[in-house]
This record gives sequence, structure tokens and C-alpha cells, in this order.
Amino acid sequence: MQSANQKVKKENRIDSSAIIVEGSKPLRGEVKLSGAKNSGFKLLVAALLSDENSQISNLPEITDLLLTTNIIKELGGNISLDGKVAKVSGSNLRTYKIPNKFSDMSRANIYFVGPLIHRFGKVFIPLLGGCDIGARPLNRHMQGFRALGIKVEDKKDGWYLQGHPKGGHYKFPKVTHGGTETLILASVLASGTTILDNAALEPEIDDIISFLNSLGAKIQRKPRRRIIIEGVDKLHGSSYTCMPDRNEAVTYAVAALATKGDIFVKGARASDLAIFLQKVSEAGGSFHIEKDGIRFKYNQLLSSTNITTKAHPGFMTDWQSLWTILMTQANGISTVKETIFENRFQHISFLMQMGANISFFNPKVINKEKYYDFNISDDSPKYFHAIKIKGPTPLQSVQAKIPDLRGGATILLASLVAEGQSRLENADIIKRGYSDFVSNFRKIGAKIEGVS
Ligand code: EPU
Repeated sequence: MQSANQKVKKENRIDSSAIIVEGSKPLRGEVKLSGAKNSGFKLLVAALLSDENSQISNLPEITDLLLTTNIIKELGGNISLDGKVAKVSGSNLRTYKIPNKFSDMSRANIYFVGPLIHRFGKVFIPLLGGCDIGARPLNRHMQGFRALGIKVEDKKDGWYLQGHPKGGHYKFPKVTHGGTETLILASVLASGTTILDNAALEPEIDDIISFLNSLGAKIQRKPRRRIIIEGVDKLHGSSYTCMPDRNEAVTYAVAALATKGDIFVKGARASDLAIFLQKVSEAGGSFHIEKDGIRFKYNQLLSSTNITTKAHPGFMTDWQSLWTILMTQANGISTVKETIFENRFQHISFLMQMGANISFFNPKVINKEKYYDFNISDDSPKYFHAIKIKGPTPLQSVQAKIPDLRGGATILLASLVAEGQSRLENADIIKRGYSDFVSNFRKIGAKIEGVS
């Protein structure tokens, strides 16, 4: 019998949709970042830990957020979402079971463990979805829950968890962004203190910590990737503003530099983008940090660079596909090595169809277990973990079916750089992570038709 952990499904139940993109036009103007996808939906779930209402503003208007809102409603939680602002509380939660109809849809389900286990002493989580970029198992989350005193059963249809968290000590065997967050959510109301070691450092985690502390939680970051969570009896409500989306920031930065344009990315925070900005400088790209954002402006042919994705503060995995487009326009041979997910080069075949000169390779690695963040048992001889890009090469238009969220944003950007008209199917998947992407791109001069 296959367990839930082995059977995590990856397809996205999102309707297909097509857009037509006219390329080869420098993009210029200003875009304002929306709230972060990878913080917003988690803040809504975190608010369920309190019976008092919280107001969360600057939320991204994306499908992943609507999905989380629907799950909360089905569980009986109080939530009202009005554009970018939500009011949420957990006072009326009535069931510990996330309905099966939400299986496979996104990563949100696993975040409900904390709020539901504190209220009911048990939880059922059906299979998870999310982008098809690797197996994405939950073994580190589940080991961590066990360390807090929770009993975990991994069954065919999902995970069954039972017991009130007591607190404890857990050292993540490898860094996990989501695992750090789900363990924090499961620890804030524990009867004792929790120490998490080798915790992830992503700014979205800090956003969740700040929100929880504003509710009365006692969470402290310590040096050397340690987090200490002192369990409290109860949380109150608060008003909180979701952080800006750093992936959106990188998308518009690359759009400016790759289309030879000039874009002011309002809301971009240099502190979230340090390694990206360092690489832009290394490539000879120009940016200017201003009080309320960062301006990216093309002013010379870029040079090749080498990047290796790493957990924060390293070069983020979500940025590598966008960076690849930039390197197709840079002079020389660049490399991109992906160490976080085992299968995150699915967009490359489209870039090659568009004329990019890219070849795959597997780097020589002495200690794979240490070098890669994914579980080595999830690797396959059919996956490559690195690419070589020779530039600059003009890109041609493409007809493509978008494979995943970040890959989709990449093909969209490549189409904006390319000569001619591209047709992109399944473009709705981009709405999982980008608020108003069509109108935002149109505002800076892009010609995109087909999706409202
Ligand atoms: N992993 C395991 N076992 C675990 C947990 C993780 O093997 O128990 C593996 C994963 O399969 C992956 C690696 O460890 O190979 C890192 O996974 P991590 O847990 O750090 O990632 P995540 O929490 O699943 C979040 C974002 C991703 C982002 C990564 C890295 C959300 C909803 N997703 O994923 O965002 O790429 O962290 O920062 O926060 C996206 O937005 O498109 C996206 C994929």
C-alpha cells in the first residue's frame, strides 16, 4: 500500500486558458508589488490560532489565497475577504478534517496542522498539491510534529495526527522553508517550549513570526538557525500587513533588464533581494535603490554569471528560471545549478524551442546528501540539476502549454523578450502567484491579449 507521503500528487486543477503575447518591446514604467504569495495564505491560517479577530491587509489577490479562504470556510473558521484585506478568527472552527476535495490543490493543507491540533487534539490532512517541481514529501514536517509529542499516521488518503503538542527539540536534517513554518504554527500554543535547530531563514517565515508575536506568541530567532518558541496559553487578535512579494520583484527586475527597458518596482525591499542584486551587479546590470522601491534599468550588454540556488540567504530557487532568460541575453557562458528541487528545469525545453542555446549537465558533487536540499531518494537519473547557457541569442516566439507557476512566469517573460507573437496555454496557472499579472504587464507596455 502506498502511503500519503509517497503519493503526494502534483497536478494542478486549474482550468486551462490561453494568452497571446507580443514580444520584442522594452518594458517601461512603474509596478507596485502585491503582498507575498508565500506569506499571505499562511497568515490567514495562522490567524485561526486565536478566537479573536485579526485583520490582515496587503494580501495578494491570487488563486492560492482564495483556495485557503475556501478551506477555512469549510472548516467553520470566520473569514471575510474583501480584495486585499481579510478578517479572520478561529472561534467557530468545527472540524479537524480538511475535506478530501481540497487534496492535490496546493501546499496550504499542511499549514492547518497547528490551528486544528490545538483546538481538537487531532487533524486529518489529505494529500497535497503544488507545482510539479519534485516529489515534495513531508517527512521533515512529520518527524518534527512527532518531536512535539504528536502521533502521526501516514495513510493512503492522507495524514492522521493526534495529541496536544507538548513542545520539544527538533533539528531539521536539511533546511525546509515550509517545515519551519508548520512546526512554528504547531508550537506556539504548546504546553512547553520548543527548540527548532537548522531552521530556515526565509523572510516569509519572519513575516509569519512577526504576525504570531503580534498575537501574543513568544517566538525568537537565535543565531545559527535556531528558533525558540515558548508555548503560551492563548493568543489575541491583531492588525497586520503582509510583506511584499520578492518573487514578483525579481520578475519585474528581469523584465526590465531582459527587454532592455526601465522599471521602477515599487515596494521592492533590498534586504529581501541582497543576493539577487549582487548578481545583477556582477552581470553589469543597473539598479538604483530608492526610498520606496528599486529601479532596474538596462544600459549595457550584460555579462554571463554562474548561480547556484540555495536556501535563504542564498539565490532563491524560484528565481533561477527568470535568471536563465536574462542569461540568454548576456554575453558568454553562464551556468545555473539547482540544489533545492530535483526537477525544476521543465521550462528549459520551451526556451530551447525559442532559440536559447542551453545544454543540461549534472555537476560533479562529492557529497550529494549535503549539497542538495531534496531527499536524495527522490532523485532520478532522468533529472538534470544544472544548465549551461550560451548568450546572447535572439529568442523567437513560441506556442507552449505552461507547466508550473514559476516556469509559466518564465515563458511569459521569454515571450516578451522574443520576436513575434507567442501563444501560451494554461496561463491561469500564473494567477496562482501573480495578482493582476496581465494588467500589470500591460501598464508597463506589454501587449498581452486573451485573459482578463
Ligand atoms: N523536502 C523534503 N521533505 C520535507 C520538506 C522538504 O524532502 O519534509 C524537500 C522538498 O521536496 C524540496 C526541499 O526539501 O526539495 C526544500 O523544500 P522546502 O520545504 O524548503 O520548500 P516548500 O516549503 O515546499 C516553499 C515555497 C516554494 C519555494 C521554497 C523554497 C511555499 C508555499 N512554497 O516551498 O515556492 O520555492 O519554499 O524557498 O511557501 C513557488 O512559490 O513557486 C514555490 C515553489
